[in-house]
Amino acid sequence: MRQNDTTARIAHVFRGTFVHSTPRDAVEILESSVLGVDDEGKIAFIEKDEQLASLSKIWGFETSDVKQLGQYEFLMPGMVDTHIHASQYSYTGTALDLPLLEWLNTYTFPVEAKYKDLDFANNVYTKVVRRTLKNGTTTACYFATIHTDASLLLGELTDKFGQRALVGKVCMDCNSAVPQYKESPAECKAETDRFIKELLKKEYPNVKPVVTPRFAPSCSASLLSELGEIANNNKLHIQSHISENKEEVELVKTLFPGCKSYTDVYLKHNLLTDRTVMAHGCHLTDEELDIFHETGSAISHCPNSNISICSGMLNVRNVLNHRVKLGLGTDVAGGYSPSMLDAIRRTLDTSKALTIQDPQHQTLTFEEVFRLATLGGSEALSLDEQIGNFVVGKDFDALRVNVCVPDGPIDLFSDESPKVILEKFLNLGDDRNITEVYVSGRQVVPFPDT
Ligand code: GUN
Ligand code: ZN
Repeated sequence: MRQNDTTARIAHVFRGTFVHSTPRDAVEILESSVLGVDDEGKIAFIEKDEQLASLSKIWGFETSDVKQLGQYEFLMPGMVDTHIHASQYSYTGTALDLPLLEWLNTYTFPVEAKYKDLDFANNVYTKVVRRTLKNGTTTACYFATIHTDASLLLGELTDKFGQRALVGKVCMDCNSAVPQYKESPAECKAETDRFIKELLKKEYPNVKPVVTPRFAPSCSASLLSELGEIANNNKLHIQSHISENKEEVELVKTLFPGCKSYTDVYLKHNLLTDRTVMAHGCHLTDEELDIFHETGSAISHCPNSNISICSGMLNVRNVLNHRVKLGLGTDVAGGYSPSMLDAIRRTLDTSKALTIQDPQHQTLTFEEVFRLATLGGSEALSLDEQIGNFVVGKDFDALRVNVCVPDGPIDLFSDESPKVILEKFLNLGDDRNITEVYVSGRQVVPFPDT
């Protein structure tokens, strides 16, 4: 327990069952416990509930203010979507009939070009932030578009609705079939500088810029170098895509003949750091995974997208065996669902499909995948000192889950254990079961306007 040697006051106390992951246990279930949140949004204590009376004296809260969780309720950490294109939300659930490179030129670039129009951007960005928050995404790592002002607007909206976010203005200066949807290298560098400066100037507590080269085929070598320098000089996060489908891997070989591998392209341009997250990685070799481990770079596994546009199947077990940080991503709109619960299910499906192909493959457990969606995501974004599980001193990003809501998607039978209740929620639950969402101690769902 942290001593109350500061002037911190308690903003919330919950009593009941808490479910989270630790580096040692993929699922730890704390029953009959109490968790306190201070007025800075940090976890002040998490103890057995016999301590309630003494905690209330130490921290100066009334036991009558304690929020009691019901028999079919629990609190879990908020989920971390490590890869989502906010700008593609308008067509999510459609346009899944082409492979990556044709999909980008046919559907994606024409839609992303529309974000010059701030009214269009405002409508889609408001909807994607609300939809993902309601579905339990407390942290999102977003791609916006090449447009600086619309990307700043996405930052403003995540702050307004209270979602923790990394927001990236997309950088691309070549190989776009839509002529108006790319920038010159000089423009791209200047606009990236402006985006970072203006977003940091807002001093949003939970929204930060992320340097975002779209992927190697969209960027000249000089643009990649500039972006590596900007990120390293300002200690910023970096996000991009890597080895998503085989045609793309071959294309990168021809575009960067001096590089040993796709990973080597990013390594040579100083884009692999311990604040880097690369989406997909389905076709990375073991040698490339070693480079991810050595540089501390992370992979965002986006299984819905990988199946929906037939890119490949990432062997997550092999990535984890290489001690590479890994989180889950929805990759809207290559992935058709904005829900991290879907990302959990598709991760399990993909792992099982790999076991069907190779019975020696060690299938991921639902407990491990729960950890990937929470603590793993926080590690992938290098935010694990701040979020990811219920540890004293971390920010309180949490979901209140009720598996027994009226007309909900889950049926319960007698005497189901908390572990079974968690498994049913992960496999069958939806936003109806996520009754409250907290980010940094602030209740952000239900929305204040509803
Ligand atoms: N590679 C480069 N851009 C994209 C994108 O928008 N979506 C996906 N899935 N892969 C990409
Ligand atoms: Zn993507």
